[in-house]
Amino acid sequence: MEKIDPAKVPQRTLYTGAKMPAVGMGTFGSDHATAEQVQEAVRGAIKVGYRHFDCAACYGNEAQIGQVFTEAFAAGEVKREDLFIVSKVWNDMHGKGDVLLACARTLKDLQLDYLDMYYVHWPFPNYHPPKCEGTERNPDSKPFSVGRFMATWRQMERLVDMGLTRHIGMSNMTLPKLKAVLPLCRIKPAAIEMELHPCFQQQELFDYVRSQGIQAVGFCPLGSPDRPERDRTAEDIADLEQPIIRKIAQAHGVHPVLVAIKWAVQRGQTPIPFSIKEKNYTSNLKCVTEDPLTEEEMEEMKKMECNNRLVKGQVFLWPGAEDWQELWDPDGTDALWDK
Ligand SMILES: NC(=O)c1ccc[n+]([C@@H]2O[C@H](COP(=O)([O-])OP(=O)(O)OC[C@H]3O[C@@H](n4cnc5c(N)ncnc54)[C@H](OP(=O)(O)O)[C@@H]3O)[C@@H](O)[C@H]2O)c1
Repeated sequence: MEKIDPAKVPQRTLYTGAKMPAVGMGTFGSDHATAEQVQEAVRGAIKVGYRHFDCAACYGNEAQIGQVFTEAFAAGEVKREDLFIVSKVWNDMHGKGDVLLACARTLKDLQLDYLDMYYVHWPFPNYHPPKCEGTERNPDSKPFSVGRFMATWRQMERLVDMGLTRHIGMSNMTLPKLKAVLPLCRIKPAAIEMELHPCFQQQELFDYVRSQGIQAVGFCPLGSPDRPERDRTAEDIADLEQPIIRKIAQAHGVHPVLVAIKWAVQRGQTPIPFSIKEKNYTSNLKCVTEDPLTEEEMEEMKKMECNNRLVKGQVFLWPGAEDWQELWDPDGTDALWDK
């Protein structure tokens, strides 16, 4: 097993002064990798040198991952304070008191006293069962509402007060939603998790997040080649097969995946690539410690942007809404929200 010195991995400084490793490991098995396979990957990843893990209750594997953390601490492989551990509250736990219960469940499953980051996974209280079909809809689903979201956020803020999480964050937000809620936050999000890969750069949202002193964390950083069926459409573009990234990969003698990760880290976001293969997750971390992309290559990568959103979220649509675009405020306003 190859080991990468965690001190060589770039770090992000959050507005609290806390450090976040600039590459994390994703833990969503995309409905095909089992909880045990992800557990083994996390076990290997700690040994390899990963110090940032992107978990979530809805991935259905926090209990298995928690066992690995406890074993690694007991074996003296790593200390709790050396890890940056993230989780997310799922959409069926936004109600009064539910966020505290969800966080408690996650802490119990991960066998931890505190989290480093706790995100609101989606800004809607819209539940769908794990592994559901893309056509599944829940009649109780509702559009975004500032009031509902802030009621959830107030509970998130209390988790920080109670010391159950060091930071809180949001995920799957849009520019209008962020602009509406940020002025209302008592405790500002320290990070925003958003879909970010070469063919989906979300430049405007990314710039705004950074201008607010918030760290952007990029999910599906490789264009999620094994994503669940419900997140696939005929129009989707495969990032890793595009000529620009292939040409740059060839120039560096590496797989296009590693170009996507180097690009993400050099651009300033924190990618959280997923892999259950030791060779792959090792190279995903190692690549940011050597042979960076040139300025010209970084410039060239901007041309890959083609608005290729992969996680469309159509299962979260509410009755009356037809098109997944409605989740993402397509006209840049609050026109589709509940007031
Ligand atoms: N906040 C949200 O709503 C949200 C949504 C989606 C995802 N996420 C988070 O983001 C993480 C990453 O996204 P993702 O898992 O969808 O997609 P991804 O990281 O873009 O792609 C993962 C896929 O790439 C392959 N891969 C990884 N490294 C490779 C390498 N070096 N060479 C070749 N293939 C490689 C993996 O296959 P192998 O296992 O075979 O290597 C895996 O199938 C998730 O695990 C999750 O933690 C968050």
